[in-house]
Amino acid sequence: MAELIDGKTISTIIKDECKEKVAEYKKQGISICLAVIQVGNDPASSVYVNNKKKACAYIGIDSLSYELPEETTQEELLALIEELNQKKEVNGILVQLPVPKHIDEKTIINAISPKKDVDGFHPQSVGSLCIGQPGFVSCTPAGIIELLKRTNVDISGKHCVVIGRSNIVGKPMALLMLRENATVTVTHSKTKNIKEITKQADILIVAIGKPKYIDSSYVKEGAVVIDVGIHRNEDNKLCGDVDFESVEKIASAITPVPGGVGPMTIAMLMKNCVDSVLLQQ
Ligand code: GUN
Repeated sequence: MAELIDGKTISTIIKDECKEKVAEYKKQGISICLAVIQVGNDPASSVYVNNKKKACAYIGIDSLSYELPEETTQEELLALIEELNQKKEVNGILVQLPVPKHIDEKTIINAISPKKDVDGFHPQSVGSLCIGQPGFVSCTPAGIIELLKRTNVDISGKHCVVIGRSNIVGKPMALLMLRENATVTVTHSKTKNIKEITKQADILIVAIGKPKYIDSSYVKEGAVVIDVGIHRNEDNKLCGDVDFESVEKIASAITPVPGGVGPMTIAMLMKNCVDSVLLQQ
């Protein structure tokens, strides 16, 4: 049976580390503030945004909340982002995605100052990650690196296969694993003979977006399996992209859903907010 990689416990440790740092900064007269913008009232986005604000409160980070109506124009949103870019007291700016269809996501991401881009989505942040310069790193892949390191999984020299090539997870994940000296293969919906590739993975990172898609036939015995997916199944229970019951029998370690990668995303957002102080100095 595979070892469970406990993202809930590890995320709490990271949040507590952030809390300590925030308290140290407060003693030096430095406070940290995150601006959180949500346009419209998509219920899933509201849950995420609330969890982010709750994490800020727990850690001692101030949060400014902007709940804008669905009809907000792109110009209005850009004007708010520009105002927050200029505001000295604001360290981080987060626009919850997706934004309504009449707003262009890329234009919004590009408008956030790279110095305040705590999501790590700005082209400058991604470019810096690519060439090893300081900058914010996308929270979910950064959280996966923390999970691996804090459960003593060796990354260097291992074959890491990433399934999925999104800008938010797959691509930055591949860059981070490369930075950790893994040999990296990225697979996606057009990859031929995908099982032949995934079965070579020492570390398999699954961000495919299909419930329980990856069963044990995709996995090498003893592999470490990281499940980025989150879905609700027929019984309204949460499940991932990995068929947990099947894969846990042959993997050496595996993240559960819930309680694996999910809680790490917010913990790393908090870490990015804390680190923003150094990046902005
Ligand atoms: N929507 C889904 N995940 C995320 C995230 O990590 N950041 C933002 N801003 N929006 C999201």
